[in-house]
Amino acid sequence: MLKFDDVSLKYGSFLALDRVSLHAGKGELVVLLGANGAGKSSLFLTASGIHRAAGGSITWEGRELVGSKPSAIVQAGVVQCPEGRKLFPQMSVRKNLELGAYVHRRDPGPSRQTLEEVLELFPILREKQHDPAGSLSGGQQQMVAIGRAMMGRPRVLLLDEPSLGLAPLVIKQMFEVIQRINQAGTTVLLAEQNAYAALRIAHRAYVLESGRIVREGLPGELLADDSIRRAYIGA
Ligand SMILES: Nc1ncnc2c1ncn2[C@@H]1O[C@H](COP(=O)(O)OP(=O)(O)OP(=O)(O)O)[C@@H](O)[C@H]1O
Ligand SMILES: [Mg+2]
Repeated sequence: MLKFDDVSLKYGSFLALDRVSLHAGKGELVVLLGANGAGKSSLFLTASGIHRAAGGSITWEGRELVGSKPSAIVQAGVVQCPEGRKLFPQMSVRKNLELGAYVHRRDPGPSRQTLEEVLELFPILREKQHDPAGSLSGGQQQMVAIGRAMMGRPRVLLLDEPSLGLAPLVIKQMFEVIQRINQAGTTVLLAEQNAYAALRIAHRAYVLESGRIVREGLPGELLADDSIRRAYIGA
């Protein structure tokens, strides 16, 4: 289980996360809804060891992550797919994917198998593996970003707004793949503003507002909630 207990984060004097508590159980697909600036990325960057929590604890299978190095956190199985993809556009698709296995460089054997699994999950990336990542469409670039995270062999995957800037049909396919990754055994914490698509594949969800968890519940409960619909679905 990945567990956040009373996690706070400050940027200078600005409190970006205010005693956030949430968890994702083994095998769960948990969605974190929140508008622009709610603190979703801040939460992920804190879990990944990029930012250091000002208070509280983040544990993965009982092990404290606050204070651990980002590379150690990936090695422990907690891998982030960052917002905005953050690819190396001039490098080939394949090189971008291989970079995700950097933390496993002392044990490269299994990475070839993982690469094969990623190319099976995203067949278009096999075709385009020698093309520069920057030449791909937005949806394909998002596949590279998710594939690169998979190369880190996540046991829990932190997905930060994978649908950002993608067309509706591409979003649908993206969420189907995320569901498949989860069904194959990877725990997923998915930050999204696209509430409708995200809640359709979620087991549970939380709503983050101004650094605080203001709601949690089952997808059906949140989809039926008028204030949630108004804020995130526009109906
Ligand atoms: N490095 C930083 N320094 C100062 N303030 C920051 C920094 N990063 C984020 N913030 C602020 O912290 C708050 C939360 O930002 P964050 O990026 O975590 O939100 P988000 O939910 O991921 O938003 P979005 O949907 O736009 O990605 C915002 O008010 C933002 O301006
Ligand atoms: Mg963000």
